[in-house]
Amino acid sequence: MTSTYDLLNQRLSVAFDSLVPGADPVLRPSDRGDYQANGVMALAKQLGRAPREVADDVVARVNLEGIARVEVAGPGFLNLTLTPGVFGRQLRGMLDDPRLGLPVTTTVKTVVIDYSAPNVAKEMHVGHLRSTVIGDALARMYRFAGHTVVARNHVGDWGTPFGMLIEHLLDLGEDEAIASLSIGDLDSFYRSARVKFDADDAFKERSRARVVALQAGDPETSRLWKILVDQSVAYFAEVYAKLDVTLTPGDVVGESFYNDMLDDVVADLVRAGLLVESGGARCVFPPGFANRDGEPLPLIVQKGDEGFGYAATDLAAVRDRVSNLHADELLYFVGVPQAQHFEMVFAVARLAGWLPDSVRCEHVAFGNVLGPDRKMFKTRGGETVKLVALLDEAIERADAALVGRGTELDPTERSILATQIARAAVKYADLSTDRERDYIFDLDRMIAFEGDTGPYLQYAHARIRSIFRRLGEPWRSDAATFALANDAERDLALGLLAFPEAFEAAFRTLQPHRLCGYLFDLAQRFTSFYEACPVLSSKGALRDERLALCELTSRTLHLGLSLLGIEAPEQM
Ligand code: ARG
Repeated sequence: MTSTYDLLNQRLSVAFDSLVPGADPVLRPSDRGDYQANGVMALAKQLGRAPREVADDVVARVNLEGIARVEVAGPGFLNLTLTPGVFGRQLRGMLDDPRLGLPVTTTVKTVVIDYSAPNVAKEMHVGHLRSTVIGDALARMYRFAGHTVVARNHVGDWGTPFGMLIEHLLDLGEDEAIASLSIGDLDSFYRSARVKFDADDAFKERSRARVVALQAGDPETSRLWKILVDQSVAYFAEVYAKLDVTLTPGDVVGESFYNDMLDDVVADLVRAGLLVESGGARCVFPPGFANRDGEPLPLIVQKGDEGFGYAATDLAAVRDRVSNLHADELLYFVGVPQAQHFEMVFAVARLAGWLPDSVRCEHVAFGNVLGPDRKMFKTRGGETVKLVALLDEAIERADAALVGRGTELDPTERSILATQIARAAVKYADLSTDRERDYIFDLDRMIAFEGDTGPYLQYAHARIRSIFRRLGEPWRSDAATFALANDAERDLALGLLAFPEAFEAAFRTLQPHRLCGYLFDLAQRFTSFYEACPVLSSKGALRDERLALCELTSRTLHLGLSLLGIEAPEQM
């Protein structure tokens, strides 16, 4: 189905285009009339004519079928009001469409989404939470739009620390080490290794030798390394399950995966004349990057003694994703601090010819999670906060909130619901803030059933489902027609019909907060409607109409939340 916005936009575009080819009507939803076109002023400027006169000209050229009223306001805004007939047809189209008007793409793209990416034998912290939650929401949106998503969990599984980690594993004994890693005690494992490394010269020596053995592919060393990787990946999978994130162990393609490709990367760079020896390292100096003193900034591909690093791996990954996975889009969900790293990697990949202009390549950056003191979120002891600990606390609070509300659920049901609410709280708080801004991690605010929160939206959905439960009889929307005699009904209808644009805006700009804002607005429109318009006590056609609006609202909330990775329980 064509969305209401598109329908109107097409009509207006024809009229605008006949005056200046390609002119944009700049159509927006509006509270004066149903929609407002703001493009007349720009058009008038181009034509060198008075805006109000041009406005009249546009109106005379628009196909007005389905448009009840056009009003020229102010310096030349067009306020458009639709006929009930158009509303009726569009709402019916939505009722009959499981996708609620969200289109399926006609040009399927392969999109490689790099997200989550924790590090082996290190705890997942709040930075990984943001990457995981935002990346997963976008992965769901891309899949729903009909694209082919290749998730890449680029875990840190290689580098010099693995020497000391393997030696520490041997000191502990394999069983003991596995036991400590499998309970997710990753940080203390890492810390103990580090302490020994710093204090004990013999251990340091062993660790160094172990790195060499690892890089040389020594079979026993590789086996021990794999224990660390497998245990960590299994632990990450538990965290993903707890968060209801779609990543699977099969999506883990860690840094080590690219080891075999690094020689080819270097060969390509040499052939392209890009590789330069500098300070004992092999570097590329992409134009346009300078340090504070204005000196050219190197992307270090290979350090003299230590071999390849983070940048080399990312270069190999771009190369692999474009040439082997045939990606049309590459998206990296990584924090703002890595902005320069990615700019340089992309620049070098373009210079090397691995990244054609036709491939959209973006570092989808996000801000920090802050503590109540507005500093980086840390425990009282100054350590990074364990992601699972946060989730567990959120579940406890959600459970307490349910008990406080006098829930009648049995303990199993209650624990499932508490988990769903906790996930919604944590994910929505993250997704609903403008991605690039920092936000304060405040569980009390996130879990509240009122305000712009995940649980509020879940509750709005569950409340509508309870209307249908109270109805006590099966109800089918087939008979519903839409007169929209009440303003609150009309406002709700307009909100419902704006779903495709809200999705499109969030999707196109990779900004899930736009979808969040839309859903929150819709829930508020529903509340006003429900206050003004009795549903179950109304009769006949009016009751069918209102039930149909309830049905559409609950379906929109359900689908909208699911695209964000948030469940909408039937009952709360
Ligand atoms: N493991 C890295 C970290 O914890 C993030 C990796 C992001 N992805 C990438 N392709 N570099 O900071």
